[in-house]
Amino acid sequence: MLMNNPVVLQVNELSIRVQGAEEEKTEVVQNVSFQIRSGQVLGVVGESGSGKSMTCMSILGLLPPTAKMTRGNIVLNDRSLTALTPRQLRGIRGREISLVLQNPMTAFNPVVTIGKQFIETLRAHQPMGMKVAKRLAIDALGKMTLQDPEKVMQQYPFELSGGMLQRVMIALSLSLNPSLLIADEPTTALDPVNKNNVIEMIRAIKKQGKTAILLVSHDLDVIGALADVVAVMKEGRIVEIAPVDELFIRPKHEYTKLLLDARLFARNWN
Ligand SMILES: Nc1ncnc2c1ncn2[C@@H]1O[C@H](COP(=O)(O)OP(=O)(O)OP(=O)(O)O)[C@@H](O)[C@H]1O
Ligand SMILES: [Mg+2]
Repeated sequence: MLMNNPVVLQVNELSIRVQGAEEEKTEVVQNVSFQIRSGQVLGVVGESGSGKSMTCMSILGLLPPTAKMTRGNIVLNDRSLTALTPRQLRGIRGREISLVLQNPMTAFNPVVTIGKQFIETLRAHQPMGMKVAKRLAIDALGKMTLQDPEKVMQQYPFELSGGMLQRVMIALSLSLNPSLLIADEPTTALDPVNKNNVIEMIRAIKKQGKTAILLVSHDLDVIGALADVVAVMKEGRIVEIAPVDELFIRPKHEYTKLLLDARLFARNWN
């Protein structure tokens, strides 16, 4: 069924280089290609430093100054992002792509209430009055199992736990109706209860069927719960990409087998 949904994101032969300390250049992403349809979750796993976050950042046009895309192109809804000016890209970033990061604290302004930030983001995204924006914000927070959304609206980021903030961030993403959601380690900093809440929220976005989701996680349980297709990265390359069941049952690449074994090992210890 998903296969009939339109392709939202296409990454073609992407390569990224960084300038190292000793003037040497290293290719941290090499010839990476994948596509994601609406309602589909692509899970990306791989060891630390394998280029997962760099890939995400290049889609957002937010690579650090030391990094540069040297090859490839990125197409969002039939539009090539690589050809756009920084200004055009900013518009798309706000309107069509939402980002959820590992540390939600960094996504919020510490001296502005949650409600004000929520409302401002909504209105920057789509013209609407204050009252409508406030209603939408409260509804979105309520849907995301945040109790007493009216109170949350009046609170400052430091008054909420990491798990609550993460849910606020996802609630905000959800209400923006993005065509692409990029979640880079969205559950890593969370306890099991909050982790499950976030999984449920991403599942809800997926179910709406309108958003393509790029989900980076070290946690194979999170990947198993959400991903339709999984890409395994190692040293800047995708070494294996397959439907989640196939990859979990019959991993082909040695590195994927190692990952799955490590998971079983951790299970036995818990
Ligand atoms: N700002 C930067 N400038 C230069 N090199 C960087 C920068 N950030 C990351 N790198 C390098 O780019 C490579 C890929 O990093 P990336 O952050 O994409 O890895 P990752 O797969 O997301 O790892 P992790 O699982 O730890 O988040 C690494 O070798 C890293 O050292
Ligand atoms: Mg990363």
